[in-house]
Amino acid sequence: PANADLVIVGAGLFGLTVAQQAAEHAGVRVLIIDVRDHIGGNAYSYFDKETGIEIHKYGAHLFHTSNRRVWEYVNRFTEFTDYVHRVYATHDGEVYPLPINLGTINQFFRAHYTPAEARALVERQAGEHAHGIARNLDEQGKKLIGQPLYEAFIKNYTAKQWQTDPAELPASIIRRLPVRFNYDNRYFKDTWEGLPKNGYTAWFERMIADPRIEVKLGVDFFDESQPLNRRTLAEAGVPVVYTGPIDRYFDYELGELKWRTVDFKERRYDEDDHFGCPVMNYSDADVPYTRAIEFKNFNPERAESYAPGKTVVWEEYSRFARRGDEPYYPINTDEDKSIYDQYRTKAQLEPNTVFGGRLGTYQYYDMHQVIDTALTAYVEEVAPLLNRW
Ligand code: FAD
Ligand code: NA
Repeated sequence: PANADLVIVGAGLFGLTVAQQAAEHAGVRVLIIDVRDHIGGNAYSYFDKETGIEIHKYGAHLFHTSNRRVWEYVNRFTEFTDYVHRVYATHDGEVYPLPINLGTINQFFRAHYTPAEARALVERQAGEHAHGIARNLDEQGKKLIGQPLYEAFIKNYTAKQWQTDPAELPASIIRRLPVRFNYDNRYFKDTWEGLPKNGYTAWFERMIADPRIEVKLGVDFFDESQPLNRRTLAEAGVPVVYTGPIDRYFDYELGELKWRTVDFKERRYDEDDHFGCPVMNYSDADVPYTRAIEFKNFNPERAESYAPGKTVVWEEYSRFARRGDEPYYPINTDEDKSIYDQYRTKAQLEPNTVFGGRLGTYQYYDMHQVIDTALTAYVEEVAPLLNRW
């Protein structure tokens, strides 16, 4: 059915990276199919017609890495801006810098603590809760940073993320809560960060510019009414890289893996700048969304190209995903882990098929991690399946 030596299910970063490597190193013809109407998977973005603003359709995506192999690889396809990620939070009528740092602490306590004084204060407040094992997230949070900071910046935000009272969430969700005892509020600690200069989609198009790579959109691997489906490809003996949900591949026969999803509510304001920053978290319970993204502030270097007096903001509402929702964050309970292990064992026995990406391995990956795993999977698992001539 396919005039291809390799079929890739999913045009996300895992699939695009494997396709690019297969064309470049093995010289084979690669066909990528995706059920969506665009490439890029969850990292896809588009330019809004009315305002010229780049909108990340599946939530804000910031590229950052300390992995030299990945940084050199991605720079073959796009330049990056010098964007540095910073986040602010609204709490009790004031705006604070995040992650919690000396600026947050001094504003919150109306103080001028030195780094050592702030450290002693937080240690003392945490110490009041240090006794015994934290039985839930609420106790864990107080134990890590003390009650005042935990309740101001972590408690209600986490409750909104999980739609669950933190006293009913497992302590294991937060193993540590980093507090910085200086004024550094640069969000990522990685060596390199930035945003693709001409947008995410221009980057991804460069990855598949090779004429041996073809993409077919709107094609579902499991839809037997179209020719490029699971059965016909297996019969033709074409190697497949599958980056869709692993439980779906096996018809959920061992159970469903659980995810959280996010609903986005778009707001348009007749203002040049609504927040003065790209990300505003809402730490309190009275605002129902966790955070809001003002996309134009990710790309201040494009100021000239924006429609004046307009901005676009997306509010994020977090909830548990049902089948048919976009799966975003794996929940990873012990039950999920055990189900996934059984699917993975089955996947390893599946002939001529490589499972990869965040859905194929039930893992949260950042973009740089998924590219790294794809570069490795190409060498270790995909190349051995390709006939070279
Ligand atoms: P995906 O991008 O999900 O691609 C899988 C593709 O497979 C999809 O396009 C899907 O349509 C297709 N597919 C599935 N089933 C089928 C089928 N049956 N037939 C055909 N096609 C199918 N990473 C960062 O580095 N920085 C960030 O700031 C960041 N923010 C994020 C915010 C959110 C809300 C989320 C959810 C993720 C974020 N990420 C971020 C992670 C990033 O999105 C992933 O690392 C990356 O998208 C994973 O690529 P992938 O190829 O594994 O999966
Ligand atoms: Na191409």
